[in-house]
Amino acid sequence: MPSLEHYISIINTEITQNFLASIEEPKELYKPVEYILSNGGKRIRAVMTLIAANLFTEDIYKALAPALGIEVFHNFTLLHDDIMDKATIRRGNPTVHLKWDENTAILSGDAMMILANKLIAQAPINALVPVLQTFNKTALEVCEGQQYDMNLEQKDVLKLTISESEYLEMIKLKTSVLIGASLKVGALCGGASIEQADILYNYGLNIGLAFQIQDDLLDTFGNEAEFGKRIGGDIIEGKKTYLLIVALENASKDDASILKATINKTDISDEEKISIIKTIYIKTKAKEIAEKKIESYFETAKKFLDQLNFPNVKLKAIMQLEASLKKRIK
Ligand code: IPE
Ligand code: IPE
Ligand code: MG
Ligand code: MG
Ligand code: MG
Repeated sequence: MPSLEHYISIINTEITQNFLASIEEPKELYKPVEYILSNGGKRIRAVMTLIAANLFTEDIYKALAPALGIEVFHNFTLLHDDIMDKATIRRGNPTVHLKWDENTAILSGDAMMILANKLIAQAPINALVPVLQTFNKTALEVCEGQQYDMNLEQKDVLKLTISESEYLEMIKLKTSVLIGASLKVGALCGGASIEQADILYNYGLNIGLAFQIQDDLLDTFGNEAEFGKRIGGDIIEGKKTYLLIVALENASKDDASILKATINKTDISDEEKISIIKTIYIKTKAKEIAEKKIESYFETAKKFLDQLNFPNVKLKAIMQLEASLKKRIK
C-alpha cells in the first residue's frame, strides 16, 4: 500500500497543477483562495478521503475530486473562522482578513464553499447521493458547532459552569464530523457499503475529538513556529477550551477565583494574561489530563478501525497519519 507521503503529494499536485490553474478572474476573489491553499496545511482531511477510498478500490482517482472538495471546504472554514476568532496568523502567515480585509475573506470563503460543492458533486455516480447527503449534513453541523463555540465564548466566566459534555458536543460539531465525513466520503467513493463507511466515520469522529483537544492544548503549550498560529490566542479570545474546563474543575478556590478574574481583565497585557492562566493550567495538571483524554479517544478510534478487519499492511498509511497526529504533542 502507498505511504502517507504518496497521498499527500497526490493532493498537493492536484491543488497546484489543476485546481488553482482553473480559477483566475477576478483575481481579487481568487488570489486569497490561492494564498490559503498554497501556504501549507497538513491536508489530513483530503488524505483521509483518499486513504479510505483506497481501502476499497485500487482506483483512488475515483475519490480525488471529492477529496479536494473536502480540503477546499476545510480551508473555507478557516477563512471565516479566523475572522470570528480575530486570528492574526495561520500556518505562519498573516490571516486572509488581515492580509486583505474582512470582506475579501468573507467572499473568497463563500466562493470556496461553492467550489467545494462542485468538486464533491464529481463523486462516482453510484456513490453520489450518499456522498452529497453526508457532505451537506456535515457542512451544516460545522456551522452549528461554530455557533456553539461562539455561544460558549460569550458565556460569562464568572458564572461559568460549562460541562465537559457541552464542550465535547461543540468540538464534535465544529471539528470531528468533518474528519469523520472525510473518511466516509472516501469509503463511499471507493465502493464501501454504508455500514463500512459508517464505521470509518465513527473512527474519524474519535480521531477528530482527540485532534481538537490537542489543538486546544497546542494553542497554549505549543511552539508558534511549528503550530503556525498565535500561542495564547484562545486565552485572549476567551475560548472555552478543554484546558480551561479542566483547570476550573481542579483549581483550588483561590486559583479558581484568580482564573475567572483574569479571563475578564482588560487592564493587563495579553502576555501577562496568558502567563497567569498558563501557570494555573500547569498547577492543575490541565495539560496532562488533556493528554490522557487525547490518548483515550485514539484508543476508542482504534476499536472502530479494528471492526473492519483489514490486515495491517492495508492500514499502513492510516497508521502513519495517526502517528504524525500523535507526535504533535510530544
Ligand atoms: C485547523 O485544522 C482547524 C481545526 C479543526 C483545529 P488543521 O490543523 O487540520 O489545519 P491545517 O489545514 O493543517 O492548517
Ligand atoms: C476550528 O476551531 C473549527 C473550524 C475551523 C470549523 P479553532 O478555531 O480552534 O481552529 P484554529 O485553532 O483557529 O485552527
Ligand atoms: Mg480559530
Ligand atoms: Mg474557532
Ligand atoms: Mg484552535
